Amino acid sequence: MKHLLTLKDCTREEILSILNLADQLKYERKNGVDQTGYLKGKTLGMIFRKSSTRTRVSFEVGMTELGGYPLFLSSADLQIGRGEPVQDTARVLSRMLDGIMIRTFDQSEAEDLAKYGTIPVINGLTDYCHPCQVLADLMTIREYKGTFRGLKVCFIGDGNNMANSLIAGAVRMGMKFSIACPKGYEPNAALVAWAKEEGDFFMTESPCEAAKDADVVYTDVWASMGQEGEREKRAKAFEGFCVDDTVMKAAKRDAMVLHCLPAHRGEEITAEVFEAHADEIFDEAENRLHAQKAVLCKLLR
Ligand code: CP
Ligand code: NVA
Repeated sequence: MKHLLTLKDCTREEILSILNLADQLKYERKNGVDQTGYLKGKTLGMIFRKSSTRTRVSFEVGMTELGGYPLFLSSADLQIGRGEPVQDTARVLSRMLDGIMIRTFDQSEAEDLAKYGTIPVINGLTDYCHPCQVLADLMTIREYKGTFRGLKVCFIGDGNNMANSLIAGAVRMGMKFSIACPKGYEPNAALVAWAKEEGDFFMTESPCEAAKDADVVYTDVWASMGQEGEREKRAKAFEGFCVDDTVMKAAKRDAMVLHCLPAHRGEEITAEVFEAHADEIFDEAENRLHAQKAVLCKLLR
């Protein structure tokens, strides 16, 4: 594995190996083991074209705990933000850094960094997908459920970057996947075709139908970063797609709820459901740190 650009690019074995290392790193951290030898002297450039709390902090803290050095590179301050071609940026950064994490709009920008550079590139979210988040999600699911075998994951809401990566992660780990989204807000068509072929995939416009007997209920915001202008239109389109008590009644009694965060209570999830599952959701957020550290070790060592 040279880069982490999409989860679909990873084999089941590669994903399992990252998750196992993430579990080990979490255990070591909780037990005060010095981890600074893992990436001693390595540098990671973190390019952000969008806001971030969890991704920035987990990569920055993760890199530091592993003995490396993270550089926060806001696109507003980089020449790339003034139009310097990504091909040139990739070649320059490759001569100075050991790895790049990028959060941007177009998936092609992350792919081009990887294509023109010579160092590992990690996708920290694009409009197309969010593989790092789903590694932490898979880690959390396995922590709570002990296995992936026989589980059903459902996603309620926008067929966006999160949904795309969750589909890839669920199919790769052999879990059943169902999604409920309004017409016109379906996940990536090519990915859906792949999931239908490779996995157990079901798409509907009914949240309760998707949530039926689910072990994991997942949701995300209705208007993602870059879609702020569509907030009102989307709020209308997503009416009835809130994860509430009715949806949770359709799921298994012991179903867990995950949310990548930030969350909008009263929109994609009720405050009651969110708070009832806050332990799972904040374990999921913490697991970003451990999962990111595992990815960094795999790619930069
Ligand atoms: N879930 C997630 O990626 O959060 P941030 O946008 O805060 O990084
Ligand atoms: N779909 C959201 C995910 C945030 C982590 C967005 O792209 O804004």
